[in-house]
Amino acid sequence: MTTREAALRGLARQYGQDHVFQFWETLDRTGRDRLLTDLEQVDFPLMRRLAEHWVLAAPEPEHFETIRPVPVIPVIDPSRADAQTALAAGEEALRAGRVGLFLVAGGQGTRLGFEGPKGAYPIGPVSKKSFFAFHAEKIHNLQRRYECVLPWYIMVSDTNEAETRAFFEGNNYFDLRCEDIFFLKQRMVPCVDESGKFMLDQPDRLAMNPNGHGGAIPAMVENQVIANARGRGIDILSYFQVDNWAVKVADPCFIGYHILHRAEMSSKSHRKHQPREAVGVHCLCDGEYRVIEYSELDLYPQLLETDEQGHVVYYAGNPAIHVISVDFIERVYRDFEHFPWHRAHKQVPFIDQQGKRVEPEEPNAYKFETFIFDALRFTQHPPIALEIDPPGEYTPIKSFSGDNSVERAWAIMRDYWAQWLEAAGYRVPRDEAGRITIAIEISPAFALTREEFLEKPRGRSWPETGDIAIDADGNLIGSKPAN
Ligand code: UD1
Repeated sequence: MTTREAALRGLARQYGQDHVFQFWETLDRTGRDRLLTDLEQVDFPLMRRLAEHWVLAAPEPEHFETIRPVPVIPVIDPSRADAQTALAAGEEALRAGRVGLFLVAGGQGTRLGFEGPKGAYPIGPVSKKSFFAFHAEKIHNLQRRYECVLPWYIMVSDTNEAETRAFFEGNNYFDLRCEDIFFLKQRMVPCVDESGKFMLDQPDRLAMNPNGHGGAIPAMVENQVIANARGRGIDILSYFQVDNWAVKVADPCFIGYHILHRAEMSSKSHRKHQPREAVGVHCLCDGEYRVIEYSELDLYPQLLETDEQGHVVYYAGNPAIHVISVDFIERVYRDFEHFPWHRAHKQVPFIDQQGKRVEPEEPNAYKFETFIFDALRFTQHPPIALEIDPPGEYTPIKSFSGDNSVERAWAIMRDYWAQWLEAAGYRVPRDEAGRITIAIEISPAFALTREEFLEKPRGRSWPETGDIAIDADGNLIGSKPAN
């Protein structure tokens, strides 16, 4: 027995998990190495703590004496003095090269039913460009406008790292400099069954899941992202999720408010119109800044309250768009063992004692995750929440149809971009009910804002029939005649 095997067997035995070696005798060298590699990643004391707290002890939900709405900076009106000051401060930080981008793309994206990393999904209705391509085009635009480099840190996980890297390589890094793009891998955590035992996904693999986007904090420090950012003079990160097609990355106004409020972590928020929208809610729980996840709303029924006019009282929805200071990440990392974990009861396929793979039809296991927004409670200065109007900023995509879907995002962006085209004097075809009858897509490399778009199309004309997709140079691509 190698010392490596002996050490891991010893740990597994000490923590009551040595059943994971049950197929050892049937494994070849590669299989044995795979199992040991999985076990090397496991934080056994943490797993014991999580299983004891979340699985074996049936914990009570957290209790709060008071829950209050958070103060929110109203949607930006560019004529407002505070918005102008914030814009100037944010633009200055961008020009000075103080800003980096942090994208979380390590999730499994199973709800979209797409084989491959979610960021590779062909979201462009006409061009079929991926989420990654759209985000990259925004970066091109900002780098040009502010004459800066926006390094792009992308968090992936074991579930999609190789495919994500291959996708970027296959697309020539979307013409960004590959030395400004970094992939960092978040850690995986074992799933446990209902008695707190690890499960096998294969005879030589533990059943594991990525440790949630809160895993960004250790991943940034341990993968030298923080060191890289500091070396470049970056002290502010613009954080966003891969599935938000519309997100304004490195939004100067948002960055400006963050700087002016000396905030450590800031959030955008959008107005919830229905109590049960599938978004987290920003609120103050016993005075502490929290985001209560939509799956936990029933634990705190006041968060579902509406006023006499039917408006949601706790309306500050969480679009998962943040600005985070580099110093703050390091501080939270130093105390990460106190970072909260969440559990989810899920169906997890496993190998049973006879070596047969079982695909359960009911939840049979617990997955553990950390959430980045839980860092908000550790800030020393009050975090800010900046309200946004979702079109053009927030079109989350979780499935193909219905709420938060590809189809909904296409419709929202079509209506949003149609206003730009119409403001530029272009006739957008509509039916008798006023609905737009074509697909519309405008490259963010060409124009990120309506103002920028209106500056540019002078002298250009696009045909007035068929789908409209405007590429980075303002040319029409992929048009097909309207029926
Ligand atoms: C998330 C937020 C919710 C918010 C909504 C907005 C959580 C728990 N909740 O919900 O408050 O209102 O987005 O759209 O996140 N990811 C990783 N690693 C992981 C897990 C996720 O990188 O281990 C990334 C995913 O790739 C994705 C993002 O985090 O970019 C969000 O994950 P997802 O599972 O889609 O969260 P939601 O349940 O939609």
